Amino acid sequence: MQVVIKPDAAAVAKYGAAIFIQQIVTKPDSVLGLATGSTPLALYQQLIDAYRVESVSFKQVKTFNLDEYLGLAADHPQSYRYFMQQHLFNHIDIRIEHTAVPNGNAPDPLHACNDYERQITAAGGIDLQLLGLGRNGHIGFNEPSSGLQSRTRIKTLTAATIADNARFFQPNEYQPHLAITMGIGTILDARKVVLLATGSAKAAAVKAMIEGPLSASCPASALQLHQHAVIVIDEAAASEL
Ligand code: GLP
Repeated sequence: MQVVIKPDAAAVAKYGAAIFIQQIVTKPDSVLGLATGSTPLALYQQLIDAYRVESVSFKQVKTFNLDEYLGLAADHPQSYRYFMQQHLFNHIDIRIEHTAVPNGNAPDPLHACNDYERQITAAGGIDLQLLGLGRNGHIGFNEPSSGLQSRTRIKTLTAATIADNARFFQPNEYQPHLAITMGIGTILDARKVVLLATGSAKAAAVKAMIEGPLSASCPASALQLHQHAVIVIDEAAASEL
């Protein structure tokens, strides 16, 4: 596990984006794992800038998102598919048929989970996976107690995660308590992983992830097992190390 500490969130995004841009330039048909949440937004903006200003092309890139709320259709404004369209896919030259987000509205969600795993395998596996970090140490929606070898499946969200993500929903809007998420085993299969975390609210989770112990109570600690995991954090998130 390589830990990179940058002064602030902007520098974290820049460092993370450089890894992604290098990956795409070196291997134009890269398979990328993508994440939602507030943290990756600045990185996505850097990728959009790289497309616009430096003509970095995403035409051959394939993407797989980590997770999706169960029960939200792709066009629901709070769905992660919608998020990805708004914040990245609509602004670069990626082919929409090359972008995959778990189907939160699938008639048979269990089948959709297994099918997602098959799609990742058929694409040749994920070259580079982007991750954020939940305050409780979750990655994707792998909440504490997730199996360290888990695969894509349905997870019940913790009260803490529901509260943390409530800011994206209107006061009276339905907020799902279930999600489809890649498993920790799925994430560990990526050839390279980049996790971004910024701000003091993440400091305790960052400490548990990096200093251990390796434990299902901090799902991100599983990254200690990964040969090519880069943890990019700002000084505030590093403050408890
Ligand atoms: C959600 C997502 C995670 C993300 C986390 C942190 O729970 N499922 O993938 O890492 O939020 O989000 P933020 O970056 O907004 O703190």
